[in-house]
Amino acid sequence: MERKEFLNLVGISIGAVILQNCMSGCSKTSDPTPVAVSPTTPTTPTPPSTGGTTPTVSGLTGNNSLAKGAIDFSVDITKSDFEILKTNGQALVSGDVIIARTKSGDFLVVEKACTHQGTTVDFVSDNSTFKCSNHGSIFNSSGSVTVGPAAKALKSYSVAFDTAKNILKVI
Ligand code: FES
Repeated sequence: MERKEFLNLVGISIGAVILQNCMSGCSKTSDPTPVAVSPTTPTTPTPPSTGGTTPTVSGLTGNNSLAKGAIDFSVDITKSDFEILKTNGQALVSGDVIIARTKSGDFLVVEKACTHQGTTVDFVSDNSTFKCSNHGSIFNSSGSVTVGPAAKALKSYSVAFDTAKNILKVI
């Protein structure tokens, strides 16, 4: 073998080795090993309540939601979620109604949504009225409008209070 042939052969071999190293190096950086991604476990939706006793509200029996039909429920005012009603002059919202206890101890229950634009009304214990903070409508103790802009009365519900059992029935 002549010197020129030998150098050509060595040059080809070195070039092949360099090319091989470059190819393997490049493939490591541009072709990463895929990482398996676990699918997120879907959240199981909470089934809608079918009415009746709401498990998260202690002391409520029946329906206080207009979406579920006629309002017809009882509350035990010795239970923590309703015990504020043991005090005269207090009120709370339950479902779609507001339950108020006047300063003289009577119970009033009216729909909570102002008939003007739906804002939840507040109980004003000083004069046993319901006032909307949005535009100032005022409703008397039976839900009738005394000050607009609301033009329609709040629906008022009948109440019966069992003093021995501390159960307030609303229909
Ligand atoms: S929403 Fe009550 S007065 Fe307008």
